[in-house]
Amino acid sequence: TAQEASGTIRADTPGPVYNRRIFTQFAEHLGYGIYGGLYVGEDSPIPNVSGFRSDVIGALRELRVPVLRWPGGCFADEYNWREGIGPKEDRPVKINTHWGGVEEPNAVGTHEFFELARQLGAEAFISGNVGNGTPRESAEWVEYITSPAGSLAQMRAANGRQEPWNLEFFGIGNELWGCGGHMRAQYAADVTRRFSTFIKAPAGTTITKIAAGANSGDTEWTRVFMDVARDHIDGLSLHYYSIAGGWPPSISATDFAEEGWAQQLSATWQMDRLLAEHTAVMDEYDPEKRVFLAVDEWGAWYAPDPGTNPGFLQQGNTLRDAVLAGINLNIFARYADRVKLTAIAQMVNVLQAMVITDGPQMVRTPTFHVFAMYVPFQDGTVLPLELDTPDYTFGPYTMPAVSAAAVRGTDGNIYVALTNGDPARSIPVSLGLAGVTARSVSGQVLTGDAVNARNSFANPDAVAPAPFGGARLAGGRLEVAMPARSVVMLKLD
Ligand code: AHR
Repeated sequence: TAQEASGTIRADTPGPVYNRRIFTQFAEHLGYGIYGGLYVGEDSPIPNVSGFRSDVIGALRELRVPVLRWPGGCFADEYNWREGIGPKEDRPVKINTHWGGVEEPNAVGTHEFFELARQLGAEAFISGNVGNGTPRESAEWVEYITSPAGSLAQMRAANGRQEPWNLEFFGIGNELWGCGGHMRAQYAADVTRRFSTFIKAPAGTTITKIAAGANSGDTEWTRVFMDVARDHIDGLSLHYYSIAGGWPPSISATDFAEEGWAQQLSATWQMDRLLAEHTAVMDEYDPEKRVFLAVDEWGAWYAPDPGTNPGFLQQGNTLRDAVLAGINLNIFARYADRVKLTAIAQMVNVLQAMVITDGPQMVRTPTFHVFAMYVPFQDGTVLPLELDTPDYTFGPYTMPAVSAAAVRGTDGNIYVALTNGDPARSIPVSLGLAGVTARSVSGQVLTGDAVNARNSFANPDAVAPAPFGGARLAGGRLEVAMPARSVVMLKLD
């Protein structure tokens, strides 16, 4: 295999839009994902606005979160929206039976969610309860949120919100094949048709309906939904977590060497194959690509950090996760004609989080920085880029060493994202430039001094973007010296 990676950025044949909703965030009532991490209540000594902590919101705003998915996840499959409205002191305290068996105070409900979305500047994506709920509950929830008139709108006004909210996305359940009811595909597709019938947007508004799609490689689920339910949905989801070593997640999030690095990145490269397979099935039934694929849960899932409640899914976040995120965001570019929305799991303190908190402390993770570096990709136009790359191999794990994607940003500049998954070797990357008139290149690099480098409250900037001087334009090509174990974002102007 060649020791350098090469390809051509085809600015002369621009592709689809890299939808900003590929950077959707997911916040579930799970561990410290909401309570403690995002919401501390108005009386907290931690600075907050309407109960939402200002440090966390401030950091997340740097990511320009386009959409926020809530309240789950598996939590959504048993959530009763009526318990989360009205005076807080009257709301029932429930047990979060899916996540740790802890008390769910219902202090964050519909009104608080829309306040959170407002503070983030994000569109709303609510997952309805198909698991143990009824179509009527979902229909009434949507009416409560969106209707300008009627008794549910009056109830909303009495609870402090006169104007209807915009509800951009409604998820018809979650993981109906699992925690959402252990349904079989045919039954779930019929249930989806039934629920969809009663999710109605008021005149002049639209609600984009996303069906609960397949788990990982289950293309049969995708096939049945496309066959049976495609006329009743706008999007179909796919959940794929990078889990090295199989279920349940067993490898350490932070205590690993090269084997843990390689097996995890090899698991994440499966996303490319999965998207090829699922989109091929969707193409059979929907060649016009009306129904989009929503990878609305993805990311790294490890064993819980030692000493934490295993039901809280807390895991440290390292350079490995940053490279993993970059690989996935680059893969999504290849399928951007079908993949219009994805959501990494999850936003705060849960799984592959953007920020981690402990009491009043907060730290940005390496994954956060990748999402910040990719902001110029939001709504850019994908520039086709086929890369010929050497492999990276460790033991039984072999995968492409380099991944790349390019867009023309909404500002007119070209942005090129690269990852080098080889933890020890710098790799030269040479890219032809078809239809590019840029005269200068600048950029940022994210790397660290070890495969498991990470940020801590004491050392919050151990893994942080730095100016990158390893790229130049020469002879009509972009030449990049990709540092080992790194993510690079370049701007050509
Ligand atoms: O993100 C954690 C959980 O993973 C979600 O609640 C569920 O949908 C998935 O199984």
